[in-house]
Amino acid sequence: MISATDTTKLTNADHPTTSLDVEQIRREFPILGQTINGKPLVYLDNAASSQKPQVVIDTLTRYYREDHANIHRAVHTLGVRATEAYEGARVQVQRFIGAERAEEIIFVRGATEGINLIAQTYGRSLLHQGDEIVITTMEHHSNIVPWQILCEQTGAVLRVAPINDDGELMLDEYEKLLGPRTKLVSITHVSNALGTIVPLRQVVAAAHDRGIGVVVDGAQATPHMKVDVRELDCEFYTFSSHKMFGPTGVGAVYGKFDLLEAMPPYQGGGEMIKSVTFEKTTYNDVPHKFEAGTPNIAGVIGFAVAANYLVEIGFDRIAAYEHELLSHATEMLSKVSEVRLIGTAAEKAAVLSFVVNGVHAHDVGTILDSEGIAVRTGHHCAQPVMDRFAVPATVRASLAFYNTPAEIDAMVVALRNVIKVFSG
Ligand code: ALA
Repeated sequence: MISATDTTKLTNADHPTTSLDVEQIRREFPILGQTINGKPLVYLDNAASSQKPQVVIDTLTRYYREDHANIHRAVHTLGVRATEAYEGARVQVQRFIGAERAEEIIFVRGATEGINLIAQTYGRSLLHQGDEIVITTMEHHSNIVPWQILCEQTGAVLRVAPINDDGELMLDEYEKLLGPRTKLVSITHVSNALGTIVPLRQVVAAAHDRGIGVVVDGAQATPHMKVDVRELDCEFYTFSSHKMFGPTGVGAVYGKFDLLEAMPPYQGGGEMIKSVTFEKTTYNDVPHKFEAGTPNIAGVIGFAVAANYLVEIGFDRIAAYEHELLSHATEMLSKVSEVRLIGTAAEKAAVLSFVVNGVHAHDVGTILDSEGIAVRTGHHCAQPVMDRFAVPATVRASLAFYNTPAEIDAMVVALRNVIKVFSG
């Protein structure tokens, strides 16, 4: 049976070295051991979705084999077990991002739903005709479109802070946009298309100085770095399990408790109510007020296990290793004259977006796949970033701590072959 405490089951003994034992880690990810098109799989599409360690896979299987029932409803043993595991996972996720209270964690389908939830609850009660929401050029569509929908509903206006040629936020321009009409800032922590790490503390401080709240899209940050929402002091922080080695279809919204208390519900249905009559319905307490219907119970439990897995490996070690990988990859790619890197921020997560002169990104992706190498090609759900750099698409290699320098080298060799083929 899985209990709340089992979600912390990984011990330091599983990862005892001070530096990262990548070979050991790779053995914990069964999918990485396969061949694709007769070549060893080189998985470099982690920003789209990362792979799952055995401990997460086992957790899901064991939950369904031994513990499944609906939560918060039944007095029978399985119902109690499932509820304890689900609520235990909430505590684990709370600790993972340094929130003060477990009630500040709302489980959702992922960061996209998280931003939609914030827009349609907090945002919709806050914004009126002519009010302004500030975002940036480097946002993922999921941090643009929910605000555009809200603008259509309320008459609010979207303002966009620019980025420079390296893909860094232009802080002075951002600050200039913060005016008396600004009610909200919504910003990514790490750009999915460029890898840029945004200086959130400065962003939040500038907003708070003017009494403006900040929503953070943390989907690309939580797989790579320690996030502490109390230190960041943002009002909301949302992230996805599947990008941080957990199951798909689940994620979380962190919100400051007082704000969550004041916000209207998101969706109506079972579990989000205290009592229902045709005359009047009263809503449940936070966070249940925001979790209508049967949630992704197994996914939430697996999400917490993935979070603990990362903590046990250690973000210091992950960040140091990924920094080395990124430097190696940047150096290797910069030696290929036909390659132009898009996104060269001083503070970067392990993402390499690039274009290859004379070859469309999709052709590069298809040929790399024939060599067993998985990269993402296209606009990466960030079309304004492509427009900013005047390219239709990029090739994106996004790294995780289970990648190796040899895999980077394999990609570069394959790229050189692509260039040779296309140059005739
Ligand atoms: N947001 C995901 C990506 O960057 C899907 O690829």
